[in-house]
Amino acid sequence: MPAAETFRAPAEAYDRLVGRYAVPLAAALIEFARIEPGMRALDVGCGPGALTAALAERLGEANVCAVDPSEPFAEACRTRLPGVDVAVASAEALPFADQAFDATLAQLVVNFMGDPEAGVREMARVTRPGGVVASCVWDYPGEMTLLRAFWDAAREVDPQRAAVADEGAIMQWCGEGELAELWRDTGLRAVRFGQLVVRASYADFADLWSPLLTGVAPSGAFCKSLDDERRAALHDAYRRRLGVGEGPFELTARAWAVAGIVHP
Ligand SMILES: C[S@@+](CC[C@H](N)C(=O)[O-])C[C@H]1O[C@@H](n2cnc3c(N)ncnc32)[C@H](O)[C@@H]1O
Repeated sequence: MPAAETFRAPAEAYDRLVGRYAVPLAAALIEFARIEPGMRALDVGCGPGALTAALAERLGEANVCAVDPSEPFAEACRTRLPGVDVAVASAEALPFADQAFDATLAQLVVNFMGDPEAGVREMARVTRPGGVVASCVWDYPGEMTLLRAFWDAAREVDPQRAAVADEGAIMQWCGEGELAELWRDTGLRAVRFGQLVVRASYADFADLWSPLLTGVAPSGAFCKSLDDERRAALHDAYRRRLGVGEGPFELTARAWAVAGIVHP
C-alpha cells in the first residue's frame, strides 16, 4: 500500500499514534516560520488538524485554510474547526488562486507527497511574494524515537519486509539539510533550516502500542499486516528496545524544519 494511503484512517487512531507529537510540533513550527497575527495561512496535508488549530488560535479561524487528500482526516479537521475552510485536495494541485496566502505550511507531509517538487512549487504559487513557505519532516533515520525503535524492532522480527518499509530507509527529505535543498531547488529564497524537538507522554507501553493495531500510518499498516506470532514478537522487541513497560514514560522526537521566502 502506498504510504499516503495509510492515512485514510480514523482520526482518533492517528491522534494516539503521531498526533500526540503534532500539537507541540505545530507550536514549534509556527515559531520557526515566524507566523504573526494579521497573516492569512494555508495548512497543506492538515491531517486531523493539529497545525490548523494552532494557526487558527494565532490568526483566527477565518484567516486559515487547510487541505488534505484523506477524506476522514479532512472531515475531522472540519468538525474540530468549523470556521476554517477545509478542502479535500493534494499539495500537487492546490485549489487556490496565485498569491492567496501570506504563509503556507506543511507539517510532516512533504515525504508523503507523490511529487514533492510539484507540491512545494504549488505551495510557493499560492503564497504572495515575500510570504513564507515552511515545513518539517521527522528525522526518521535518527532521533524520532517512536518510529526509529519501531522499525529497528520490525527489522529484527521480519528483516526482509521491514527493510523495504522502514521509513528511515525509504523516505526522502528526512536527512539533515535535505528539505533545504528541495526549498532552494524550488526557487525559494533566504532558506533557513533547523531542528524542532518535541516530547510525548504515555501511560504505559500498551498506550503506545494500541493505535498501531488500527493500521494507521506506515508503521501501523506494517504492524497490522503481520501474522499473530510475528506481531507478538514485534510487540516484545519494540518494548525491549524502548526499555519501557507498565509505568508512564515520555519519548522525544526530532523533526527537521525549513522555511523560505517567495521571490518578491
Ligand atoms: C503524518 S500526517 C501529518 C498530518 C498533520 N499535518 C499533522 O502534523 O498531524 C501526513 C499527512 O499528509 C497527507 N498527505 C499525503 N499525501 C499528500 C499530498 N500529496 N498532499 C497533501 N497531503 C498529503 C496525509 O493524508 C496525512 O494527513
